[in-house]
Amino acid sequence: MQRAPGPSGPTPKATRAGDSASEPERPGRRQRAGSNVGAVGADGRGRHVVLVGAMGVGKTTVGRRLARELQRPFADADEQLELRAGRTIPAIFRDDGEEAFRRLESDVLADLLGAAHPLVVAAGGGAITRPENRALLGRRAFVVWLRASPAFLSARADPTHRPLLAGDPDVTATLERLIAARTPLYEEVADATVDVESFHAGDEKPKRALARHIARLFWVPAEAPG
Ligand code: S3P
Repeated sequence: MQRAPGPSGPTPKATRAGDSASEPERPGRRQRAGSNVGAVGADGRGRHVVLVGAMGVGKTTVGRRLARELQRPFADADEQLELRAGRTIPAIFRDDGEEAFRRLESDVLADLLGAAHPLVVAAGGGAITRPENRALLGRRAFVVWLRASPAFLSARADPTHRPLLAGDPDVTATLERLIAARTPLYEEVADATVDVESFHAGDEKPKRALARHIARLFWVPAEAPG
């Protein structure tokens, strides 16, 4: 498992533009990446790329751009879920509760990652909470954790479409709690971790820069361990 970082602090695993495109490989992860390679393509590049991370971090916008960079289709898991259910996420939470939403979320993720052709997928922020989703991500995807601090996210995560934040008088505190609980799960699934805030601080087009950076991480694999 990856070392526990704070949500905003850089770690040796985290990268941003200008760093080496190859990240140091975590012990244990290399083995899992190896099994991905066997499962879906001769060199592992046929894997789906899945963006994970907290609400408001930019998974959808970056994912769309990344899909263009990699010349493959993009799917937003939340959008697919709403299409399939014929209802919005807030309505599903309100009428059926979070557990029902999580079941749908798992079904949609399984269908997307079962696609024969490689996709770029933006996963919902809580998709990593279910063990079966994490196992599936490990088998079928190159997973990129877009990481940012609660303060950064609270300025960006629109609560109107997000039932876990809607009507919350202290969105930052809720994001802090969610991120603290989920950080070990993001770490567990991540093949690469990208600190988003430094891109916003240093680039006029941060989402384009993020997409290009992630594309490089994907195309330039880490060195095999000696
Ligand atoms: C959720 C994140 C949302 C959406 C739902 C629950 C979460 O997706 O799936 O509101 O548990 O963090 P985004 O991360 O795309 O906002």
